[in-house]
Amino acid sequence: MTILGIETSCDECSAAVVQDGEKILSNIIATQIEKHKAFNGVVPEIASRLHTEWITGVVRRAVDTADITLKDIDAIAVTNRPGLIGALIVGVNFAKALAYSLGIPFIGIDHIRAHLYAAHLEQKIEYPYLGVLVSGGHTIIAEITGFDQINVLGTTIDDAIGEAFDKVAKYYKLGYPGGIAIDSLAKKGNPHAYNFPIPSLHKGNHEFDVSYSGLKTAVINQADQFWDGISEKSNENIAAGFQKTAVDIIVRKIKKALAATGLKRLVVGGGVAANSHLRERIAEFQDLEIVFPSLELCTDNAAMIAGLGYHHIIRGEKDSFTLNASPRIKAFRRVYP
Ligand code: KG4
Ligand code: ZN
Repeated sequence: MTILGIETSCDECSAAVVQDGEKILSNIIATQIEKHKAFNGVVPEIASRLHTEWITGVVRRAVDTADITLKDIDAIAVTNRPGLIGALIVGVNFAKALAYSLGIPFIGIDHIRAHLYAAHLEQKIEYPYLGVLVSGGHTIIAEITGFDQINVLGTTIDDAIGEAFDKVAKYYKLGYPGGIAIDSLAKKGNPHAYNFPIPSLHKGNHEFDVSYSGLKTAVINQADQFWDGISEKSNENIAAGFQKTAVDIIVRKIKKALAATGLKRLVVGGGVAANSHLRERIAEFQDLEIVFPSLELCTDNAAMIAGLGYHHIIRGEKDSFTLNASPRIKAFRRVYP
């Protein structure tokens, strides 16, 4: 079965053709990074306008690269939640119009679940496993027993890990996108020049939760308090100290969740899964099968949308033309008693 995937939730305009939920025939990602660079962040209005301009060409290229015609597409899967609402609407409406004109089903896909599915496009992965999603908008540790069976064990109680990378980079003018800039700068820095604090979230409900707003505030407003008093006060050292602590926070919780669940398989996804220090730290784990997607499948892409969409479509699920886009989803938010 051939699925066309469409992804426009943020600043990547992407379309992909995937067969049977695993074989990528094409995965076109047109990034808007250059257009948002001057603002040090994604400007939602610019993102939606560019998606509107680019989407037809991106879908055309995905179909041509896959060496198929529109008639060969069996169904369309499109990100409809969560993300920038104006950006999502472009993809959703495009998918509806194309599905209508081709007379084929379409389905709205949850971007977060698709990130957790991304690694399945590159290798066979058995369930169950511990799934970790680290992106610009979410930080989730979950027990995953099927493509739609996700039991969230922990999440962030405030900022997402990628958001902390982006805000720190923006404040210190380290470059854009923030995560990539910090990752490369940190390689030249001393991770012990600053000893930033790790939040102590260990009681009751928070056993597997993380928090990043305290670290962000410490790095931005109180860096001097955590300086070792000897090393140079440089951007490289700030980046290395911040990155080490940001990774420490999530790695500790991953270890805890692995121990508590007894799971022997770990699958990571999302933009921050591209981080070299996170990959190094997780590679040190013993007695564990570790799966990271390739860099292209860590960040936003339509192949993961088409891949996950396949599993819903073969179960006979589809959406109606009343499908809406949604900026947020409740399912992955912390629920307090
Ligand atoms: O998954 P993604 O492309 O979009 C969301 O769904 O949020 O993730 C984007 C996030 C941004 O915060 C970006 O700074 C971060 O991923 N990121 C990285 C790296 N590459 C991208 N963070 C740390 N290290 C990287 N190498
Ligand atoms: Zn994403």
